[in-house]
Amino acid sequence: MTKPRLTIVADPDAAARQAADVIGNLIKHHPNACLILPTGRTPVGLYHELVVRYQAGCLDFSAIRTFNLDEWVGIPPSSPSSYGYFMDQHLFRKVNLRPENCHVPNGLAADLELECAAYEDQIQAAGGVDLALLGIGQNGHIGFNEPGTPVHTCTHVATVAPLTKSTNAYTFGESPVPDQALTIGIATILASRAIVLLATGADKAEILGRALQGPVSPEVPASILQQHPNVLVISDVAAASGLRAPESKESHPPHP
Ligand code: F6R
Repeated sequence: MTKPRLTIVADPDAAARQAADVIGNLIKHHPNACLILPTGRTPVGLYHELVVRYQAGCLDFSAIRTFNLDEWVGIPPSSPSSYGYFMDQHLFRKVNLRPENCHVPNGLAADLELECAAYEDQIQAAGGVDLALLGIGQNGHIGFNEPGTPVHTCTHVATVAPLTKSTNAYTFGESPVPDQALTIGIATILASRAIVLLATGADKAEILGRALQGPVSPEVPASILQQHPNVLVISDVAAASGLRAPESKESHPPHP
């Protein structure tokens, strides 16, 4: 099995630049690539970097297609708490992505199951995903695939774990964090031709170690990435601080 490749950089800014290099390279060679995109604190620097490179004339998003990983149920895109709003603020409105090429699940749909099926169909109709960009939750979630999510899941309605609700409370102010979200599933993520996992900050150190070096288990959803043939993990030093030394070194202890 090919293990995820790991790049450790100094800080979140360097991680953002590294991830922007990967995306820039993809766009150069594949101008109509299809991307899965996350929200959250981690990719903010990356989106800023992409905007800067676009403004400098180095990137053209005019044929790029994007599918966001997830969206809260019951939160309209006009709300600053929604992921649609986040994407507009950080990327969509700031580069030449065409609105019709940017997809975010509709958490207001009358029939959420139908919305998930339609979203999944749109991803397949786009020809599948060239690059899935992921963050990681402190409990190992990817998208809203929380611990215990079966690996065969496609886009579905997810119950948000208590830890995830508390780490996202800052985006809701005084309002309650929804119990449910729509998320691209693990099977769809794994079907992506390439995956980049971004992890920054000491609060990701423990879970990154478990995801990359622990057993593959539904209890740590990101650990399934160990089974994908083309994963690049971009981590800053703080997030990488929970990783053990490479096995190659461990298996050859120095002679006393
Ligand atoms: C959000 C998403 C989540 C986040 C994760 C980390 O679209 O997919 O899985 O990537 O919760 O969030 P941050 O980056 O805020 O630590």
